[in-house]
Amino acid sequence: AVPPATPQYRPAYHFTPTAHWMNDPNGMVYYQGTYHLFFQYYPQGMVWGPMHWGHATSPDMVRWQEQPIALAPDSLGYIFSGSAVVDADNTAGFGKNALVAIFTHHSPEEEKKGQNKHQYQSLAYSLDAGKTWTKYAGNPVLPNPGIVDFRDPKVSWNEPAKQWVMTLATKDRITFYSSPNLKEWTKLSEFGEKLGAHGGVWECPDLFPLMLNGKTYWVLIVNLNPGGPNGGSATQYFVGQFDGKTFTPLNANTKWADYGPDEYAGVTWNNTGNRRLFLGWMSNWEYANQVPTSPWRSATTIPRELGLRQVGSEIYLTSQPVSELRTLAGKATTLQNITVKAPTDLTARLNSTTDKHRLTLSTKQLNDFELVLGNVAGEELIVGYDKAAKQYFIDRSKAGKNNFSPKFTGRATAPRLSTAAGTELTLYLDAASVELFADQGLTVMTSIFFASKPLTSIKLRSAQGSTWQQLSNTPLVAKPASK
Ligand code: FRU
Repeated sequence: AVPPATPQYRPAYHFTPTAHWMNDPNGMVYYQGTYHLFFQYYPQGMVWGPMHWGHATSPDMVRWQEQPIALAPDSLGYIFSGSAVVDADNTAGFGKNALVAIFTHHSPEEEKKGQNKHQYQSLAYSLDAGKTWTKYAGNPVLPNPGIVDFRDPKVSWNEPAKQWVMTLATKDRITFYSSPNLKEWTKLSEFGEKLGAHGGVWECPDLFPLMLNGKTYWVLIVNLNPGGPNGGSATQYFVGQFDGKTFTPLNANTKWADYGPDEYAGVTWNNTGNRRLFLGWMSNWEYANQVPTSPWRSATTIPRELGLRQVGSEIYLTSQPVSELRTLAGKATTLQNITVKAPTDLTARLNSTTDKHRLTLSTKQLNDFELVLGNVAGEELIVGYDKAAKQYFIDRSKAGKNNFSPKFTGRATAPRLSTAAGTELTLYLDAASVELFADQGLTVMTSIFFASKPLTSIKLRSAQGSTWQQLSNTPLVAKPASK
């Protein structure tokens, strides 16, 4: 039986399917003015099951329209994660400008045989801008060589080498393949068996270039489950060089695109020119099947624009909310030069009346602080900074329902990577989630929570005392996208 509906947890500007289970974002591609989002979807239940690709479209990554299911299981198996490309030159022969999806087929029948060959890569194409899809008759295009975890192909066109490159998660490493036509694949190289975090299996990779100070670097994203910095699933990345064949990291330090417990399987859109746009699944495999929402489970994160920034000798990935989110903004209320020490209730002065808003805080001297988002039931979600530990944190231990899973932990921390004295913090709240972008996106944390009443009150406290140049509250109002 479907539990009673929980509309109070339905976000206003994050994508959720109307009903049923969702996990990873898949096949994100920009095509003829539309952002396509496909996603791991089980349309018969509210827990993970035989995987389909659900589908949603948006003019701006912010207003989403759910579309009919794009891909359903077939005789070769369930439809696991993967990517989609625009085949502008018709290399595959499906048609000029065909949309081609490259995904993992996962066969439960083959899995029972125990030969580790039950995951392999397949194609489907669309000649009507993603509305209907045809699976390629020659599937699979990349059979399994005997590797138990062999999945989540991310394909993109490598212009210097004039060929397609597939980045594939292969258990404890990434394997790169190349192809002239998306149908025949040749192994190029492997990366990472002894590098990075290995607390679990490597999944959902991505590989793309980004510029910093006129120089091109390549970023390799590797999702990991479990083994994340706050437990369970999380997104790590490497910065390095890719010569069309081999990925070479600048160093072996483990880095995380998002330190919070609830960003996973994040990858980027294809075909967006010089912008690199990232979207994650806003949950964690530790408890995703138990979260108390109904009749759907899971949302995506807000879309984030990626960049690189150097701090000391290290080059980090930065994630910033996309500028398109500004189209949701209502009337901002801004306070200047606020000093707090004792707990200070700012609810009225910030005009806070909704649990769907953006808060920005800027200071010239970051001291410890706690921003307490509360409700009439006395529940509190605390976002703050611990100066002695040099850590940001999100504490949801008193923010509502948390007994649905022992793995739904309370306090998550993230290192402050910036060495600047001051900072700017941006928080996005949307009913049952908070996303923190600290130091212009250098440290990011995403956390979900399930308060019994909307968190509309705002308090600040600071044991050391803190001064804020500016505090601003902007309600965010979702406008529906047309069909
Ligand atoms: C990541 C993942 C992928 C897989 C999919 C199955 O969350 O485990 O590796 O393709 O989910 O739904």
